Amino acid sequence: MTLTAVPSQSLVTPQLEISGGRRLSGDLRVSGAKNSALVLMAACLLSEDGLRLRNVPPLTDIAAMGEILAALGVGVRRGGDWIEMDGRTLNKSAPPYELVNSLRASFFCIGPLLARLGVARVPLPGGCQIGTRPVVEHVKGLKALGAQVTIEHGVVSAVVPGRGHRLSGGRIHMDCPSVGATETLMMAAVLADGETVIENAALEPEVVDLAGLLIAMGARIRGAGTPSITIVGVDRLHGADYAVIPDRIEAGTFLLAAAITRSTLRVSPVIPEHLGAVLTKLEEAGALLEADGTAMTISAETINAVDLRTQPFPGFPTDLQAPFMSLLATAKGTSVITENIFENRLQHVAELQRMGAAIRMQGNTAFIEGVHRLSGAPVQGSDLRASAAMVLAGLAAEGITRVQGLEYLDRGYADFEGKLNAVGASIRRHGG
Ligand code: UD1
Repeated sequence: MTLTAVPSQSLVTPQLEISGGRRLSGDLRVSGAKNSALVLMAACLLSEDGLRLRNVPPLTDIAAMGEILAALGVGVRRGGDWIEMDGRTLNKSAPPYELVNSLRASFFCIGPLLARLGVARVPLPGGCQIGTRPVVEHVKGLKALGAQVTIEHGVVSAVVPGRGHRLSGGRIHMDCPSVGATETLMMAAVLADGETVIENAALEPEVVDLAGLLIAMGARIRGAGTPSITIVGVDRLHGADYAVIPDRIEAGTFLLAAAITRSTLRVSPVIPEHLGAVLTKLEEAGALLEADGTAMTISAETINAVDLRTQPFPGFPTDLQAPFMSLLATAKGTSVITENIFENRLQHVAELQRMGAAIRMQGNTAFIEGVHRLSGAPVQGSDLRASAAMVLAGLAAEGITRVQGLEYLDRGYADFEGKLNAVGASIRRHGG
């Protein structure tokens, strides 16, 4: 008799197995915003007092940021959905490459380190799956505030020359409204000498959230959420206790989960103004939306084709482009999606095609002819949002879909399958 070896659970490539075609119903709870929490955590470097953040999502990226701050000497304590950081013991200006390498958001440390210590050495964040992601605007802005910046051997070294090592306020005009650069420069400017004006600033809600925290710490900031942000530097910032905004991208993903399964779901908390363009496109596609305080109920029967282009806020967010494409792959008629923010963010098209989607590509534009039903298949999520898009497609598909690429999914969605299973999905995690 021949015995076939059965791979142990740990040898199975981590994957989600989705049994598709089920209707969903019930309530879905949205966690705190990953992109806000990461930058808010970096702001603890600006103060000698403690910072307490609430509504922090339990994600691997948050844990990685905590490790980076701890490596700089910050005292970090985490529990439930809160995190406490004590910047008094900050004693290093250079986060180690091994930690930084795993997390792009680690570059956020450069602004506050420079503001507080007058020196920072941070490895360049690498490119990532969705595009090159330069830091030109960050560096240009730090120089405008008086820092000397050099980039050598993959490390950005910044120092404030002269006695006192204090940045000085300046006028910065950004060539493109980069979210990360706006946030970096805000954190650099809050302790600078004099007034800073950031023009063509990003308008994203996470920028406004950062301003909210910094103001709670004693910073003087006007205009966050508009293209011109004015910051008057102060001598020191104190501690604060602050709640992170709800994650608009997770909320949007849940609304799309309802739409793609033609179900009714109640998603909360949602701040409708954070999702304006997405809600408009969902309604244009035929979904019914009803807001009740911070809860949003969505129901969908027929979904029609719509066209969309990704744009900086308040335009349609690039982070929901892939999940929205999964929905449109099942719509009546032909939709057109154009990705304008990142140069390589359509890799999910090939995976959706494996599931029977009819999509034609031309440059950064996808023409999506809706099909009656997607069919389950083994697929790979190539980045965080593409992985979520695959799970959504799997929820609607006939048969079994196996989604790999969970190392991305777990970076941005807290207990994704647990939340979806609680409203009627059938998703099992294997391996990992
Ligand atoms: C943030 C979000 C990310 C989201 C993106 C766009 C975080 C942690 N991540 O990323 O989820 O997809 O905003 O909404 O908040 N650019 C330049 N020069 C620069 C900087 C950026 O040309 O110096 C370009 C980029 O190549 C990209 C575009 O600007 O094409 C947007 O990038 P940016 O707004 O900086 O995105 P991130 O802050 O990296």
